[in-house]
Amino acid sequence: MTKSLDCNKAFGWAANDTSGILSPFHFSRRDHGDNDVTVKILFCGVCHSDLHMIKNDWGLSHYPLIPGHEIVGIATKVGKNVTKFKEGDRVGVGVIIGSCQSCESCNQDLENYCPEFVFTYNSSSPDGTRNHGGYSDKIVVDHRFVLSFPDGLPSDSGAPLLCAGITMYSPMKYYGMTEEKGKHLGVNGLGGLGHIAVKIAKAFGLKVTVISRSSDKEREAIDRLGADSFLVTTDSQKMKEAIGTMDFVMDTVAADHSLLPLINLLKVNGKLVTVGLPEKPLELPIFPLVLGRKMVGGSQIGGMKETQEMLDFCAKHNIVADIELIKMSDINSAMDRLAKSDVRYRFVIDVANSMNLLESAESKL
Ligand SMILES: NC(=O)c1ccc[n+]([C@@H]2O[C@H](COP(=O)([O-])OP(=O)(O)OC[C@H]3O[C@@H](n4cnc5c(N)ncnc54)[C@H](OP(=O)(O)O)[C@@H]3O)[C@@H](O)[C@H]2O)c1
Ligand SMILES: [Zn+2]
Ligand SMILES: [Zn+2]
Repeated sequence: MTKSLDCNKAFGWAANDTSGILSPFHFSRRDHGDNDVTVKILFCGVCHSDLHMIKNDWGLSHYPLIPGHEIVGIATKVGKNVTKFKEGDRVGVGVIIGSCQSCESCNQDLENYCPEFVFTYNSSSPDGTRNHGGYSDKIVVDHRFVLSFPDGLPSDSGAPLLCAGITMYSPMKYYGMTEEKGKHLGVNGLGGLGHIAVKIAKAFGLKVTVISRSSDKEREAIDRLGADSFLVTTDSQKMKEAIGTMDFVMDTVAADHSLLPLINLLKVNGKLVTVGLPEKPLELPIFPLVLGRKMVGGSQIGGMKETQEMLDFCAKHNIVADIELIKMSDINSAMDRLAKSDVRYRFVIDVANSMNLLESAESKL
């Protein structure tokens, strides 16, 4: 019993209230079962959803809360029913770690839309243990929610694919952006999600325009990320010229903003896909939708099968995130910078090389 409890001991950084300040936190993972993979965490990306959650922007947070759902690590223990993974394999864990496995969505490999899906953190497992995310040293996950991390992908810059990558890949396929080469996609907001959207869209053969609040990221978007053009939302002349030129717009913005200029950019039959999750509802102008037979839709990450497909696609096309690698102890200043969109383009925590050091420093105190 004591031995099992010892094995379950884990260490991470948790937010304790809506200040969102993260600090060291000792906790227990659930028991490792026959269907589980225990993962030693190497790297974890810092998604804007983590920032929303530590600050309780959506009114859903329970504290203490350890965020993190862009996890790459090594399988250190594999349950006896698990055939797909073995100890030592490099694996990924994304935004969900459970679903009912029997509803209409689950039967279509859309566990991400299962009414009972379980988030990687800020949720509970069936035995009542709180689930905590990847800003921690290890995690125990049902093998059906563990991904094989392709050989060609680096662990650090590949980690953000597990949320940002699939969040962009899935709607491109579902909303028909990839069916014909050369369709014109606008990507609103060049952050963690947006910059990966540009890379994936280019690999699918789309024409990509980045839509951003200022021209600060213009050169990088074109020279480094491969965008075809850049549109600054405050440049009213350029915005006017771009009216009716896009087949699709993907909106990744995390804050309050107007949808009208984005809908105006669409051609007749164009589609606006919203993936950003601002705290408050946005106003939806109906007239331009009706007059142009335009559509507004949403999308949440992707199912497990499609997430694996996306990882393999990114490995094949050498798509990774542009990252700033940080230590665990840098996380609070990184969150402050993320709130100001001051990151190019995703923070990734070097968990294995900074978490263990902190733990041993703590034990010497
Ligand atoms: N649907 C899903 O499954 C899913 C998955 C992951 C994340 N999300 C949500 O998607 C959103 C974006 O996540 P992220 O990690 O990409 O965030 P991020 O790295 O902060 O990027 C968001 C970008 O939006 C733009 N932006 C920020 N504040 C703005 C404002 N006040 N007005 C206009 N534009 C603003 C900025 O781009 P510019 O500087 O270029 O303007 C910023 O870089 C978050 O709400 C997150 O919770 C949804
Ligand atoms: Zn995320
Ligand atoms: Zn289900």
